[in-house]
Amino acid sequence: MITVSIYYHTYTVVLMFIFLVLILFHAFSVSANTFSATESLTISSNKTILSRSEIFELGFFNPPSSSRWYLGIWYKKVSTRTYVWVANRDNPLLSSNGTLNISDNNLVIFDQSDTPVWSTNLTEGEVRSPVVAELLDNGNFVLRHLINNNDPDGFLWQSFDFPTDTLLPEMRLGWDHKTERDRFLRSWKTPDDPSSGDFFTKLKTKGFPEFYVCSKDSIIYRSGPWNGIRFSSSPETKPLDYIVYNFTATNEEVSYSYLITKTNIYERVRLSSAGLLERLTWIETAQSWKQLWYSPKDLCDNYKECGSYGYCDSNTSPICNCIKGFGPGNEQPWTLRDDSAGCVRKTRLSCDGRDGFVPLKKMKLPDTTGTTVDRGIGLKECEERCLKDCNCTAFANTDIRNGGSGCVIWTGEIFDIKNFAKGGQDLFVRLAATDLG
Ligand SMILES: *[C@@H]1O[C@H](CO)[C@@H](O)[C@H](O)[C@H]1NC(C)=O
Ligand SMILES: *[C@@H]1O[C@H](CO)[C@@H](O)[C@H](O)[C@H]1NC(C)=O
Ligand SMILES: *[C@@H]1O[C@H](CO)[C@@H](O)[C@H](O)[C@H]1NC(C)=O
Ligand SMILES: *[C@@H]1O[C@H](CO)[C@@H](O)[C@H](O)[C@H]1NC(C)=O
Ligand SMILES: *[C@@H]1O[C@H](CO)[C@@H](O)[C@H](O)[C@H]1NC(C)=O
Ligand SMILES: *[C@@H]1O[C@H](CO)[C@@H](O)[C@H](O)[C@H]1NC(C)=O
Repeated sequence: MITVSIYYHTYTVVLMFIFLVLILFHAFSVSANTFSATESLTISSNKTILSRSEIFELGFFNPPSSSRWYLGIWYKKVSTRTYVWVANRDNPLLSSNGTLNISDNNLVIFDQSDTPVWSTNLTEGEVRSPVVAELLDNGNFVLRHLINNNDPDGFLWQSFDFPTDTLLPEMRLGWDHKTERDRFLRSWKTPDDPSSGDFFTKLKTKGFPEFYVCSKDSIIYRSGPWNGIRFSSSPETKPLDYIVYNFTATNEEVSYSYLITKTNIYERVRLSSAGLLERLTWIETAQSWKQLWYSPKDLCDNYKECGSYGYCDSNTSPICNCIKGFGPGNEQPWTLRDDSAGCVRKTRLSCDGRDGFVPLKKMKLPDTTGTTVDRGIGLKECEERCLKDCNCTAFANTDIRNGGSGCVIWTGEIFDIKNFAKGGQDLFVRLAATDLG
């Protein structure tokens, strides 16, 4: 009887011990991906924050042969150090004395003289109670209320709202009307210098929205508008079954994002310091990043390469061609011409119902500045509407799925048009009846 009781006791103690270890282990594993107001991250401690499944890691880093320190996020699971976000890209720490902690409910980076060099800048009004930060498995570093974790208003602050040069899956690029937030990519200055570089993305929200890649004040490349499946500039993009693209254009927001539906695939879109927009995927067997897609690809991707009413075809020589019904803008021989001079209409439009349209096949749609969109009508009504407006120069479907739908109308000059060997869509350009023959 007594031995049984002792045996029973030992058993309980062992059970309780296991239970305690589990609780401690749980507490420990939680503290690895969260960061509370009592903690701090210093450069000298080498401490980092890991996401729950240890996919991403956040900490201080300094680029090769640089004495500047940055707070950044990189892949823990990828052997080549790859930064996807940098907090203080333009306010580096100039010595290896630096601290990240939560001060007054904000994430703040302090330098060696305890001066803040970077802060999440939330106001008292935005934060009601103590906060905690967490690095999520999708690479998003978020700040939320400590109590009431499932904050109905979402995160108080998130790194996904302040992209650096990289668009990760689930991140959104573009404009959010509610928060008046414009999320864009800006390149690193050089491959080893995360400070703001020359290249950035810009979203045009009016009319038929599209993205531009710009350098300083000039546009260097255009994504073309979203045609329901992909951007008009990328006909070659073979749909990958594990990527779901999401382009949303409403009054509340215009944004682009993508999802990876398989696990253990690391994919990113980035704007390189040379101005190349590229989609990369990690190849585990090769231990390197493979480029799946990039742009600009050829001369025809250069913005306005062929001027107004010209189209670019990299398989013709010269690459610039005039649309049927248009001729070279000046008398210079083709090879000596300044292509950007473009082409001019041969016969004036009559605007009395006798004009017609020449269909151009496999095209990247022209720059969408000065377009009007009606997604509720089809090609036939689109054509009628164009004919009625003497300023209308071209029209096309807004969506190429299921045989095409929607209507986009260009008024004025059309430019930055590219002809693809494969893919693209139909563009209908208005001509006088005599030029149609
Ligand atoms: C942090 O890392 C550096 C360089 O690897 C090393 O010299 C230093 O001793 C480490 N500090 C701690 C506290 O582990
Ligand atoms: C770094 O900070 C510590 C105290 O926080 C101080 O003792 C040390 O001198 C500082 N080092 C530099 C290089 O500023
Ligand atoms: C955060 O770190 C700075 C710099 O070391 C320090 O002055 C400040 O007291 C810290 N704040 C908190 C809340 O720990
Ligand atoms: C916080 O505010 C300061 C001063 O207005 C600004 O320089 C800094 O860029 C802001 N930080 C962030 C992360 O927006
Ligand atoms: C696409 O993005 C919009 C806006 O961000 C979002 O509301 C919607 O749920 C997303 N759709 C899918 C299928 O992910
Ligand atoms: C056509 O364009 C001219 C000049 O830009 C403008 O004054 C006129 O109102 C436009 N007509 C229509 C029907 O939009």
